[in-house]
Amino acid sequence: MGTTAGNECYGDVLFAASCASESERLEGLARAFDPASRQDLLALGLNAGWTCLDVGAGTGSLGGWLASVTETADQVTAVDRDSRFLGPLAAQGVNVIEADIADPDFHPGQFDLVHARFVLMHLRERNGLLPRLASWVKPGGLLVVSDSLAVGGETSPHGPYRDTVTALWRMLAEEIGTDRHCAGQYPQVFTGLGLRDIGMRAHLPVAGLEAGFTRFLTLTLQQAKPRLLAAGLPAATYDQALLHLEHPLSRELFFAMVTCWGRTSAIRR
Ligand SMILES: C[S@@+](CC[C@H](N)C(=O)[O-])C[C@H]1O[C@@H](n2cnc3c(N)ncnc32)[C@H](O)[C@@H]1O
Repeated sequence: MGTTAGNECYGDVLFAASCASESERLEGLARAFDPASRQDLLALGLNAGWTCLDVGAGTGSLGGWLASVTETADQVTAVDRDSRFLGPLAAQGVNVIEADIADPDFHPGQFDLVHARFVLMHLRERNGLLPRLASWVKPGGLLVVSDSLAVGGETSPHGPYRDTVTALWRMLAEEIGTDRHCAGQYPQVFTGLGLRDIGMRAHLPVAGLEAGFTRFLTLTLQQAKPRLLAAGLPAATYDQALLHLEHPLSRELFFAMVTCWGRTSAIRR
């Protein structure tokens, strides 16, 4: 896929699944957020027999859990642009599809639950994709989307950490189109899509206290290092930020996961 300036996509180079540390980075993300996602989905009524689509399934941790809760692995579908980490999920009987969700020819069908976590925030075409995701929800079913709301990193009292996180968010916005605040807009967007019973919840992990989140943050910064230095972040600042994250007494914020959900009308007009 092309990576000329301004049209690089998540996973082309930055956060590519071919990177040696990418599966460990995504496992850290899953360890940090799976418990909150599972709690939210159970509270929304997820149950045996539901058909589910996990969009941008990553390592498949939630897809596997969806298959066990719904007791119907073959009614769970996991889609990702790069499905190399989803072999174990396919072996479990989950329907694994390698596809780009922005491809107009991709039509996965309709599901009781369409779930996407930390995917749309990285896609420039996110606003056009939300109606597409909603169109894959059966009448009366649920759309559940989780993305970040950047909190605390850019205002940290630790200067090198603050400067490094600020440089990271800026670089991600410029180079792959990441929107670190997009989750805050979802209730309004969901209302515009005609969804009802709209809800929202936030979960804010702490780096230094939660091992999975700390590992995810460290590996994210390590993968981003060449871009951050090329963008002008001093190497000494970067190194101090990484050392700070390794210190046992460090307690830092990075982002909250904000989950927004809504239900489609029981009758399609
Ligand atoms: C940050 S990871 C999140 C993984 C997983 N949803 C989680 O929360 O643990 C983003 C995932 O979305 C996938 N992805 C990115 N762009 C995509 C696209 N256009 N179509 C399908 N998957 C995409 C990536 O390959 C990656 O697995």
